[in-house]
Amino acid sequence: LHTHSLTAYKQGHNTGTINQSPGPDMARTQKNKATAHHLGLLKARLAKLRRELITPKGGSGGGTGEGFDVAKTGDARIGFVGFPSVGKSTLLSNLAGVYSEVAAYEFTTLTTVPGVIRYKGAKIQLLDLPGIIEGAKDGKGRGRQVIAVARTCNLILIVLDVLKPLGHKKLIEHELEGFGIRLNKQPPNIGFKKKDKGGINFTATCAQSELDADTVKSILAEYKIHNADITLRSDATADDLIDVVEGNRVYIPCIYVLNKIDQISIEELDIIYKVPHCVPISAHHRWNFDDLLEKIWDYLKLVRIYTKPKGQLPDYTSPVVLPDGRTAVEDFCLKIHKNLIKEFKYALVWGSSVKHNPQKVGKDHILEDEDVIQLVKK
Ligand SMILES: *[C@@H]1O[C@H](CO)[C@@H](O)[C@H](O)[C@H]1NC(C)=O
Repeated sequence: LHTHSLTAYKQGHNTGTINQSPGPDMARTQKNKATAHHLGLLKARLAKLRRELITPKGGSGGGTGEGFDVAKTGDARIGFVGFPSVGKSTLLSNLAGVYSEVAAYEFTTLTTVPGVIRYKGAKIQLLDLPGIIEGAKDGKGRGRQVIAVARTCNLILIVLDVLKPLGHKKLIEHELEGFGIRLNKQPPNIGFKKKDKGGINFTATCAQSELDADTVKSILAEYKIHNADITLRSDATADDLIDVVEGNRVYIPCIYVLNKIDQISIEELDIIYKVPHCVPISAHHRWNFDDLLEKIWDYLKLVRIYTKPKGQLPDYTSPVVLPDGRTAVEDFCLKIHKNLIKEFKYALVWGSSVKHNPQKVGKDHILEDEDVIQLVKK
């Protein structure tokens, strides 16, 4: 039974990119230039309908507040998604059990219990995203909250049962896509600027296999946009264009955790190991947690900065941890205290981000993982 799904993993998932799985109506439509036009329109209409799910509503039921409160307790947040009985809760409790420093606590509005683990000096929040598949569809109450929290995660772990059909992976990916979450993807390289007049100014800097000026125009018309500069700088799809126009997409790295490897053969395990973004584990036996944590660390791209008080050795025990993309000296100061930057004169930095050790830098200097910093105040 499971050999079938393993073969599918091997054959269908070697690119590392995730395609949005189309609904039955879309799948039937042949993908040639003429129908690409209609397909584009259909997708734009769907995207507009789904916007309801993503946009937090004012007042009750919006549910973003709870999510952001939780963020304060950690340097990064990982959301766990999976169908019931794939071993998600075993994984959560065993991971938290081994590495947890902070006791798990009730996260009442979502009825989930996040654990906070400490790994390489960083506090990482493990957050169960319950019922993301079943509950979220209606777009109401708890479903909306879970979506809002999912969108704030720095990493998503999709937990799969290695013995179950591959279709589950697609289903979850499709649901998350519907909430404006893009997994292991970069934002599309499309320039988009709305204007007051001049019509649609369409430019493509490379060959396009799906989009042409007419299709772009009708998709934009669907959004009542009739004047804009559009520049396609990569071979873009209608989905890419819609993502740029909608503008509310979040790009989150994702790891597929393939659980229950204690029930497959070594040969099958070899196949799984070749699947991009995958880590095989046994949550029950705590097998391969080292590998999983190492991959989590890679994907989070956190930056650890050690502080060095003047005349003392650096403090290597409790680094200041910054997220990827927010690692300027100014961000470091902000993470310590919101007013610190006002007293900032310059900083001395040791490590891979500088040519000389130490080097005098300003607040815009970009720090790298494991740099040592000493602040000099005015
Ligand atoms: C069309 O768009 C390009 C790229 O954004 C821009 O450089 C150019 O000035 C635009 N042309 C007109 C006529 O607006």
